Amino acid sequence: MKYTLNLGAKEFSSDSLVLVSAFEKTVEAKGKAKASKAIVNAHWSKELKSTFEAINSAKDFTGSLGDTFLFHLANGTTVLVYGLGTKTKLTFEGLRNQAAKIFKMLATKHSEVALQLDGFVLKGKAEESLNALVEGIALADYKFDRHFSKQTKTKLTEVILDSSEKKTKAKKLQAVIDDTLVVTESINVSRDFVNEAPNIQRSTVYAKEVLKDIKGTKGVKAKVLGKAELKKEKMGLFLSVNDGSAYEPQLVHLTYTPSKVTKNTKHIALVGKGLVFDTGGYSLKPGGSMVNMKFDMAGSATVYAAFRAVAKLGLNVKVTCILGMTDNAVNEHATMPDAIVKGRNGLSVEILNTDAEGRLVLADCLDYACDLKPDAIIDSATLTGAVLVSLGTEVCGIMGNNQKLTSKILKSAKNTDEYMWELPIIEEFHNDMKSPIADLKNIGGSRFGGSSKAAAFLSKFVKNDIPWAHLDIAGIGDSQGHKAYCPSKGASGLIVRTLVDFLKNS
Ligand code: BES
Ligand code: ZN
Ligand code: ZN
Repeated sequence: MKYTLNLGAKEFSSDSLVLVSAFEKTVEAKGKAKASKAIVNAHWSKELKSTFEAINSAKDFTGSLGDTFLFHLANGTTVLVYGLGTKTKLTFEGLRNQAAKIFKMLATKHSEVALQLDGFVLKGKAEESLNALVEGIALADYKFDRHFSKQTKTKLTEVILDSSEKKTKAKKLQAVIDDTLVVTESINVSRDFVNEAPNIQRSTVYAKEVLKDIKGTKGVKAKVLGKAELKKEKMGLFLSVNDGSAYEPQLVHLTYTPSKVTKNTKHIALVGKGLVFDTGGYSLKPGGSMVNMKFDMAGSATVYAAFRAVAKLGLNVKVTCILGMTDNAVNEHATMPDAIVKGRNGLSVEILNTDAEGRLVLADCLDYACDLKPDAIIDSATLTGAVLVSLGTEVCGIMGNNQKLTSKILKSAKNTDEYMWELPIIEEFHNDMKSPIADLKNIGGSRFGGSSKAAAFLSKFVKNDIPWAHLDIAGIGDSQGHKAYCPSKGASGLIVRTLVDFLKNS
């Protein structure tokens, strides 16, 4: 999609389709009459208003949210009016969703649209509004269609943004568009990774695709550790998950160093669970729960997308990205329940359920990340079904060892309109993860508080008091069709924007 900014616009940039917004207001009536609704379109040009008012049926259109009205100007230009409802009630998230709906409405019918930007500016904030608008369109402009024998092309290829803003604002507003597109492109790359089929995207393929995607990005260095290297690193827990696999485990280690590093430059490590498929292992998942477990690498795709966006934006923060990739499969070598395995940090773990594998991969990756001495570590994982039980399928769980870090990430989630809620790690949960015959066991004694107990387990692999936060995206990472800018089925790409906001403010 091409986005063209046209400032100081007096005329419409398209003679085919012009899109203008309208708001709605409630008009209080006098006496016994009922209150009525009326259109707010003060931002329209004279020509638009007079043509619109001359149409009889236009009187019924009040600009309520999502309503549309189509009419034509004398020169043949089509004008599509899009209702945004009560202006004071519309949030940036609302705007993001409406932008996505507008995209879907036009995508197959029009090749170009000139959108009158002024009518989409909320709270007088042109930059934030433009960001939400472009995000909504670019995130809705995604489909995973590579496996169809025939792909249908999206007809809409250009959005012209007409605005009466002065031309001196061009640099700032263009930067908003460019930066937004870097983030949405990264989100769409991560969606592709998550949605790809597990028989095609083996761990080794996934690692290669990541390297290919990041290649040539300024300031980025990459390396991959395979089975031999992981053995050298004594990553027994990670390796135990891979034991039943026909494919090598892969630890992808990416570093982004900004062009100017000072002693004040922060270093953040991101760690992601990259289970390209989770059968459960010997503790096999029932058929119904196993379907869609290709999505078990969404944690890694999420942190990768944030890393990619930060590097491509050239932000002034050093970021390390550790992606732990393998499948969790069963063969004659697969780890059996009751196995006792030693992690990279020397702790022994009694593996009572091979389906609680994500924490094993993350454990060794977290210990590895700690050795790089970052200022903070954030991991992201589709770790527990329990997070869907406690928070619903729409909310990301956050847990950690440092309230300041947790609060900062929660603030970023708020800034970007993403749902996130903190869960506690109490002493009792730590105790529940102790084994009578090893340092730890990989599941708690009951299914209650499962997400927090998994986090309690992870915390044992974070050393030197490094501030650490764990994001359980088992719910929010998957199908979020209640958001118009997310696909109804498949990877949502949510939480990337939270992480980018956090890294921007680091
Ligand atoms: N990948 C799953 C978690 C998951 C479940 C993600 C549902 C998305 C949707 C994870 O590896 C797992 O199987 N966890 C177990 C842990 C249990 C055995 C303690 C779970 O949540 O049931
Ligand atoms: Zn599992
Ligand atoms: Zn898993």
